[in-house]
Amino acid sequence: MTKVLVATEKPFAPVAVEGIRKVFNEAGFEMILLENYKEKSDLLKAVGTVDAIIIRSDIVDKEVVDAAKALKIVVRAGAGYDNIDLPACTAKGVVAMNTPGQNSNAVAELAFGMMIQHARGYYSGKSGSELRGKKLGIHAYGNVGKYVAMIAKGFGMEVYAFDPFVTADKMKQDGVSPVGSVEELYKTCQYISLHIPANKETKGSIGYALLMSMPKPATLVNTARKEVINEAELLKVFEERKDFVYLSDVEADCRPELDEKFKGRFFFTAKKMGAQTEEANINAGIAGAHQIVNFILKGDKTFQVNK
Ligand code: 3PG
Repeated sequence: MTKVLVATEKPFAPVAVEGIRKVFNEAGFEMILLENYKEKSDLLKAVGTVDAIIIRSDIVDKEVVDAAKALKIVVRAGAGYDNIDLPACTAKGVVAMNTPGQNSNAVAELAFGMMIQHARGYYSGKSGSELRGKKLGIHAYGNVGKYVAMIAKGFGMEVYAFDPFVTADKMKQDGVSPVGSVEELYKTCQYISLHIPANKETKGSIGYALLMSMPKPATLVNTARKEVINEAELLKVFEERKDFVYLSDVEADCRPELDEKFKGRFFFTAKKMGAQTEEANINAGIAGAHQIVNFILKGDKTFQVNK
């Protein structure tokens, strides 16, 4: 019998787990659930004999791939797959997939949750500011970026985007103003929402020059990955610009320095919360389950990311 491990250090909503289980039951697969685990050794133990794994931000490195002797497929229920060692998967003939778009709306809504919360002074009673009429720059116009644009227009923001892989026409159709360079985006917009993946090209790419060029008062919203930020330069920007604010769904490594010197000018969620909604869990988890069933039963490799 095909065995599938659902390994989620940050669990899916129960209703999503039920839905995932139903997909595997109907396919005649066995599902093993490892939720809330604290140690990597728990994951290493659990992967021993499974054919497939569904994960979220859980780390599937070479050690995990090597320990999973029967593994054929690993599906990241979500967008970013920087937590999977793709070469290790490829070397072992393991297919790696993500579930693009399935949790995008949840991430986009959180970006606005953080913006509103900060603009309104964390509901403390003090006078705040509005999003209407402000310029928002969407850095990477993929699945999340598109939802961000849609919501921003509802708020009456002026929406700009930069993405070398999306045509200007496509952006214009969505009522978004395309800009020709990343520099122009930051120079134009006092709000920037980050949606770039973390990879060799992007890691540490958001730093001093870009952030210093933003119009005042500037707010950087990060629902992507902390690794894309050059944190030494971020601290320098905090130091030199009293108007600069950083709102992030991923706690920066430099949190202690921020706590010490820049209280009130940053916000971090307690745990990565962007995709933490019932709807996103259902969409991404069940899509991942179907992808596993279709791959095991029919060899369908749609959404493979280690080609
Ligand atoms: C993603 O890449 O899909 C998001 O960062 C969500 O991550 P999560 O599944 O760990 O919440």
